Amino acid sequence: MTPRWLRTDSRIEYGADYNPEQWPREVWDDDVRAMREAGVTIVSLAIFSWARIEPADGRYDFAWLDEVMDLLHANGISVDLATATASPPPWLTTAHPEILPVNHEGQILWQGGRQHWRPTSPVFREYALRLVRTMAQRYADHPALVAWHVSNELGCHNIYDYSDDAAQAFRVWLRNRYGTVEALNEAWGTAFWAQRYGEWDEILPPRLAASFPNPTQQFDFKRFSSDVLKDYLRAEREILRELTPDVPVTTNFMVMGETKGMNYADWAAEVDFVSNDHYRLPGAQSLDELSFSANLTGNLAGGRPWFLMEHSTSAVNWQPVNLAKRPGELSRDALTHVAHGADAVCYFQWRQSRAGAEKYHSGMVPHAGTDSQLFRDVVALGSRLRELSYVQGRRRTPAKAAILFDWESWWASEQDSHPTELLKYKQEALDWYTTFLDLGVRVDVLPASASFDGYDLIVAPILHVMPSSLASRLTSFVEGGGHLVATYFSGIVDENDHIWLGGYPGPLRDLLGVRIEEFAPLLEGDTVALSDGLEGTLWSDRIDLIDPATEVLATYKTGDYAGRPAVTRRAAGAGSASYVSTKLAPNALAPLLKDLAGRAGVVSELPSELRGRVELTVREGVRFVVNRTDEQLDISSLGGPETTLAARGVAVLPA
Ligand code: GLA
Ligand code: GLA
Repeated sequence: MTPRWLRTDSRIEYGADYNPEQWPREVWDDDVRAMREAGVTIVSLAIFSWARIEPADGRYDFAWLDEVMDLLHANGISVDLATATASPPPWLTTAHPEILPVNHEGQILWQGGRQHWRPTSPVFREYALRLVRTMAQRYADHPALVAWHVSNELGCHNIYDYSDDAAQAFRVWLRNRYGTVEALNEAWGTAFWAQRYGEWDEILPPRLAASFPNPTQQFDFKRFSSDVLKDYLRAEREILRELTPDVPVTTNFMVMGETKGMNYADWAAEVDFVSNDHYRLPGAQSLDELSFSANLTGNLAGGRPWFLMEHSTSAVNWQPVNLAKRPGELSRDALTHVAHGADAVCYFQWRQSRAGAEKYHSGMVPHAGTDSQLFRDVVALGSRLRELSYVQGRRRTPAKAAILFDWESWWASEQDSHPTELLKYKQEALDWYTTFLDLGVRVDVLPASASFDGYDLIVAPILHVMPSSLASRLTSFVEGGGHLVATYFSGIVDENDHIWLGGYPGPLRDLLGVRIEEFAPLLEGDTVALSDGLEGTLWSDRIDLIDPATEVLATYKTGDYAGRPAVTRRAAGAGSASYVSTKLAPNALAPLLKDLAGRAGVVSELPSELRGRVELTVREGVRFVVNRTDEQLDISSLGGPETTLAARGVAVLPA
């Protein structure tokens, strides 16, 4: 059965979260008029409407929503309809306070914000799933309905719940994973600190403890927390599939910034199409991080097009200081997502709120109204997207190089009682990404579980958790002629967070041709000089070469291990395995990566004068060229119809 949504004309969808319940009825007509002017094709509706749809237990008010659905349809606008379960109404939390989440200190997270529900609460599930069924029954045949939007940003505020319901569900999850308490004791290393469990009922989530909670308990609780939300997503999805089998189901991921609780590599197969929300953080790598997230989202979708469900036209409201976007950024940000495979450009939200916690968050229609620069920019982007309709449906064209991204390594490498608290998993991956962008070399940000086929160069930043199966896949990759670059603190533990013994990095030692007896992390602000004139921070290792053929690309010049190797490369068959034992900033990584990529045969596809100044991505026969600078660039050397690229502009050229 072809999903209804895919039967629409070829176009890049354009729209926003639409929250008409915040406005009087007469505003709705202005809304749809302005939506048509902007070229809006789709809105996400009813995300936070539970209290309005079901004002009291079992009493429904759909009249207003029927009217909005009809109005949108009459104006040619499709609806990605939310199941409305994101924020439970006060009548429910008053009658059933046992659905409220509990933090690790045992404090209840009360109503008054949003997403105050426990994913494991049977009571919450009963009420929420009843609403899902009621919504699906009511709107199954509505012609505006093209997709279902499950809840909203699952886990944004409620990823870690330490309640008694969570404890109960955690035990069930652990039983499924380990089978016996003995196996759990072994995996958790409970011989340490007298933590041995005799019965399942003795086990708790890692609540506030007198000292560091057991690391494998913490690690498993992270896995469990991601899994229970995934399970909740499935529960809503099953009802929707039963009642509307031809309407595709999605939920908005948050591949962005430091959001790390949900293992989206593991969730991606659960939705009919991947959608993502992204908000830029300030700082020098702001745009790179956007590109990184869009790139990773495209690869979570297996290279297929995906849906940008939310981003912002300008400022957000939730950062310490909320910067407005500069001229050109609204369009550039949106098109950078399209460049990485997005077939939809949507915002939070259509009309900027007048009241509530997000009234300072930008929208497509600002407080100033449609007579505003922002709305004119929104209209201009709408027409640009119409011109780009032919891009719709085109897959990402894979790069030759990949950076592996692994949620489990993110979780485990940043746990407490480690060699350093300063280690930042995502930052290391992002620094490599920035370096690729600076060199003008295309790279895919790839879930570590994805196939390595077709890649010539794989960078594994802090690939800390290394089950034997992953070590074998990396070894086969190198033996098959691939080039691997691993960094410090990679390959240190197995899937139970137990150290691989015999010298670090256990399962990669032979492949890399190095053996490490001790780590030597650096204090904040300290640096270590390398022989090639570069400077490392954060980390260093005491390295011995265990294969005389291992080449030393740089040694430490200062620090405890002066004279010893800092960066190595071992040729193995047609491939190679390199090791970088310290943290290098992008400007220091650039010469190293250039060398390693060059030896792997991975080169820039850009003319030299544009490398670093633009980002190049490819979608089946179409090149996107994003201006990373604030200057106009001459792009005549790219051979497209356009010869100049505006500051912060994006050119779309035939490949
Ligand atoms: C204390 C404790 C030990 C151990 C060390 C670690 O001395 O008695 O059990 O935890 O700290 O430094
Ligand atoms: C998230 C939510 C939206 C809104 C935006 C604000 O993405 O899904 O409801 O709160 O953040 O940036």
